[in-house]
Amino acid sequence: EAIEKGGYDHFMQKEVFEQPESIANCMRGRLVLEKGELVLGGINEYSQSLIHAKKITLLGCGTSWHAGLVAEYLFEDICRIPVEVEYASEFRYRNPIINEGDVFIAISQSGETADTLAAIELAKSKGAIVFGVVNVVGSSIARETHEGAYLHAGPEIGVASTKAFTAQVTVLSMIAIKMGLLRGTISQSQFQLLISELNQIPKKVATALKNNDQIEALAEIYKDAQNFLYLGRGNNFPVALEGALKLKEISYIHAEGYPAAEMKHGPIALIDEDMPVVFIATQDDSYEKIVSNIQEVKSRKGKVIAIVTEGDILASSMADYSIEIPKSHYVVTPLLSVIPLQLLSYHIALKRGCNVDQPRNLAKSVTVE
Ligand code: G6P
Repeated sequence: EAIEKGGYDHFMQKEVFEQPESIANCMRGRLVLEKGELVLGGINEYSQSLIHAKKITLLGCGTSWHAGLVAEYLFEDICRIPVEVEYASEFRYRNPIINEGDVFIAISQSGETADTLAAIELAKSKGAIVFGVVNVVGSSIARETHEGAYLHAGPEIGVASTKAFTAQVTVLSMIAIKMGLLRGTISQSQFQLLISELNQIPKKVATALKNNDQIEALAEIYKDAQNFLYLGRGNNFPVALEGALKLKEISYIHAEGYPAAEMKHGPIALIDEDMPVVFIATQDDSYEKIVSNIQEVKSRKGKVIAIVTEGDILASSMADYSIEIPKSHYVVTPLLSVIPLQLLSYHIALKRGCNVDQPRNLAKSVTVE
């Protein structure tokens, strides 16, 4: 096992630190920057149904569902296709409306999640076309779907999903960008810009990981908190959900993720000097609004940890602590903003003496209902 961990103390730690490489592997042979091409070899015969889709339904559970939520923003923004993101477990039992030729994308690390598999079978039985975004080659979901794109992230052993999430978001981003070009909803130059932004992600993730020591020190400060709130807007809202899930899963601290603007409809009542609030406050169109949300928390004496774009001044000056990530295009920011949240949960869990790789009550793959 020590050999498998490759010098790291835990699988989760190894998998978090592997992300520059796993994301690069996920794009290898697919992003051909010199030719300005994006090749998805696994999506062939059914590519027309994807390109001409009137709606796409994304299916998943847990972290894979969060990757679907990130993709919802991208498909709608880049491809102008309406998207629904469904918990597979809810979808399958509510007599969903599925028509012949409808398009689905099932997202799964293991490819064995029972609810996702059953939802795929249901969709197929009504004549839908189902694509898979799966890590494990030859898994049940990979076999059941019509076509798809593998993550190529390598084995993920830690129960809390980390590198599979970034690979899922990378694959879904590649599909969205490619479809945007083919549908004519983005121009050739926007396409070039987006693929070059994706191409820079592995290097930028490596930079984001350099804040590990700073995050470990933060974990020492907040390790005894009883609750955490994670807030983000736009495509960083699902990242807030994912940050909260990571903390819950491995440290057993109660955490909630919320869209920052929804805070005033409930969570704001929880804020006092004992409540750490993690904001994803990167510099994009919603930056000013996030800054005013930070202000609202500070005026109620909440403790603010802000994930900010490098060189940020305003949000950082208001926050108790800030963690920088490299500047990037809005579309690819979730691939960077999730990194400090993974590290924060890892360090807090360790300091609380938790088993980060095998948290209580959780399974890596839920193959029964
Ligand atoms: C379990 C795992 C999660 C994972 C979820 C979905 O709950 O602990 O990490 O996100 O299942 O699994 P899948 O393999 O379908 O992505």
